[in-house]
Amino acid sequence: MKNTTVTRSKGQINVVLNRENKRDKESLYRKEQPFGNTLAEKHEVLERMEKELSSLVGLNDVKQLLKEVYAWLYINNCRKENGLKSSRQSLHMIFKGNPGTGKTTVARLIAKLFHEMEVLSKGHLIEVERADLVGEYIGHTAQKTREVLKKALGGVLFIDEAYSLARGGEKDFGKEAIDTLVKAMEDQQHDFILILAGYGREMDYFLSLNPGLPSRFPITIPFEDYSTEELMEISEIMLAEREYQLSRQGEQKVRDYLRRIKGEQGKTFSNGRFVRNLIEQAIRTQAVRLLVEGKYDRQSLSTLQAEDFDFEKSRVQPFS
Ligand SMILES: Nc1ncnc2c1ncn2[C@@H]1O[C@H](COP(=O)(O)OP(=O)(O)OP(=O)(O)O)[C@@H](O)[C@H]1O
Ligand SMILES: [Mg+2]
Repeated sequence: MKNTTVTRSKGQINVVLNRENKRDKESLYRKEQPFGNTLAEKHEVLERMEKELSSLVGLNDVKQLLKEVYAWLYINNCRKENGLKSSRQSLHMIFKGNPGTGKTTVARLIAKLFHEMEVLSKGHLIEVERADLVGEYIGHTAQKTREVLKKALGGVLFIDEAYSLARGGEKDFGKEAIDTLVKAMEDQQHDFILILAGYGREMDYFLSLNPGLPSRFPITIPFEDYSTEELMEISEIMLAEREYQLSRQGEQKVRDYLRRIKGEQGKTFSNGRFVRNLIEQAIRTQAVRLLVEGKYDRQSLSTLQAEDFDFEKSRVQPFS
């Protein structure tokens, strides 16, 4: 492809648009547009996608997958232009990871970006769990699950803690939900992506109980726990979004705090969610401090100090 440069490094695909050829490409693709848009718009999608992905720390597998899907659609267009068959693909996924590692965030982003790439007609996310799918009597489960599937049409159906569908074994209605989902996945008319999410070990066990399932989910994305430095990067992004920053001592305090709690809590540590809660608590503590100190200048209003992460102290004497 002369209009794009595709390189591989460290197992990653990089798709780079060569801007000088944009005009050629537009005229080339205006003739036939199997995905509805002109290719110029498609490259805007790529640029927007890269911008959105840059706000996610790590998650290289997710970033690579989205670039691959983009490249595949692009090449599909080129193939069609050259009289070759353009293919459909099954994009159902399994997300494995501990709490707060970004599974729901990524599912929402995938729904949105796949809509922009016209893989999905609507691009919304329906997030459900066992109780939304499983009913109380024979036939109830299939009906409940079909209703959920109907709502998810055109978007992503995200089933959190999916392994709980295997709870109770063969006689459990969870099995009926799985069968109904599998049937919907096989129906090519269905314009939706199913994502099953859960903690790694439980998901492996769940898939081993349902031998027909793994092959129906060609994409598995592991969500690793974040390192302390990655958690610091997440905190920077969250603070920047809220127009706050850390003082130098504040930064050191957050780093030490994250390292300690992560070590203490191990597998139950809630990663990005912990960082979000930490920051939101510190913002409240800072607000109390500023009221007490009577400081309302721009610099004070936007800076979180080390003492703002000293929660016990602020809880004991909020406004005194
Ligand atoms: N890689 C990341 N970059 C930036 N922010 C992140 C990242 N991962 C998670 N977060 C943030 O952490 C918080 C928790 O993420 P999310 O709810 O997506 O996790 P989860 O894996 O769905 O958790 P759970 O399994 O408990 O449902 C969100 O505020 C999210 O924006
Ligand atoms: Mg979640």
